[in-house]
Amino acid sequence: MCINNNAASHVCELSKNIHINDEFFILHFYWTGPSPSAGQFFMIKSERTSVFLPRPVSIFEYNESQKLVKFLIAKRGKGTEELSMLNTGEKVRLTGPLGNKWADFLPENGNAALVGGSVGVAPLAALITEKPGFNFHFYAGFKNGFREKKDENSFLGGAVNAVKLVISAEDGRNALGGRIVDYIFEPQAYNVIFACGSVPMMKAVKNKCEQKRIPCFLSLESKLACGVGACLGCTIRTVKGNQRCCTDGPIFPAGEVLFNE
Ligand code: FES
Repeated sequence: MCINNNAASHVCELSKNIHINDEFFILHFYWTGPSPSAGQFFMIKSERTSVFLPRPVSIFEYNESQKLVKFLIAKRGKGTEELSMLNTGEKVRLTGPLGNKWADFLPENGNAALVGGSVGVAPLAALITEKPGFNFHFYAGFKNGFREKKDENSFLGGAVNAVKLVISAEDGRNALGGRIVDYIFEPQAYNVIFACGSVPMMKAVKNKCEQKRIPCFLSLESKLACGVGACLGCTIRTVKGNQRCCTDGPIFPAGEVLFNE
C-alpha cells in the first residue's frame, strides 16, 4: 500500500531480534519500500499486538544493497515490551520512511558533532553509516554504563566508526562520569551539531550552541499516533507556531524550538 510519494506500508517478516540487555533490543527487517535516510522513522506494529497504535521508531541502520533496515528500541511500555518478545518470522507492519532527514541539514563538508542520549543515539548512528566519508565526532551519553564492551558496541552501531567517540554514563561504569554535554569542550570547532535524546540534554546542547553561535538541529520525540500529520497528537511549540513532529520534523532547528519551562 502506498502512503504518499515517499512512504509505503508493508507487512514484513521479522528477520532478527537481538537483545542487548534487559532494556534494549534491535529488530532487523528486509524492506522493499522506498529507501529510508538517517533521521527518518517508521511506524511499527506487530500483527499479534494488543496495543492499538503503532510505535514510531527511528532507523538505526539501513543497508541499501541488502535492503536491510534495523531499529534500536528501548522497552518503554506495553507496545515496546511486546515488540521485544517477537520471534523471527513473525509478521510486522512497517509504515515509512516518514519525516525529514539529517542529510537535509548537513553541510557538504567540514565536521559535525552528533550528541545522542540513550536510545537517541540510534538516528545519529544511522547518519554515520549513511555518510561514511564525513568527519563526525560522536558524543553518547547513558544513565548506566554497559557491563560489556560488546553490548556497548551493539548499541552504538555505526557510531563506532566516528572519527572521535566520547561515551559518558551518569553512574560512571565503564565510561566517563557525568553528563555527555559537559564533554563538548569546543562546540565552535564544529560546523553543525545534531542532537537526539532527553529534553534536558537537548536543552543543554541548544544553550551551548547558542552561546557559541553554532548551527544546531534537534530530533524531537513527541507522542506520535498516526505518524502522517492527521491527528495533531505530536504538536510542538516553535517560534513559527505549532508544528507537527511527524511531518514538519522530527528534526528542527534548535533556535526554533520552544521547550516548555
Ligand atoms: S502523529 Fe498524528 S499528526 Fe503527528
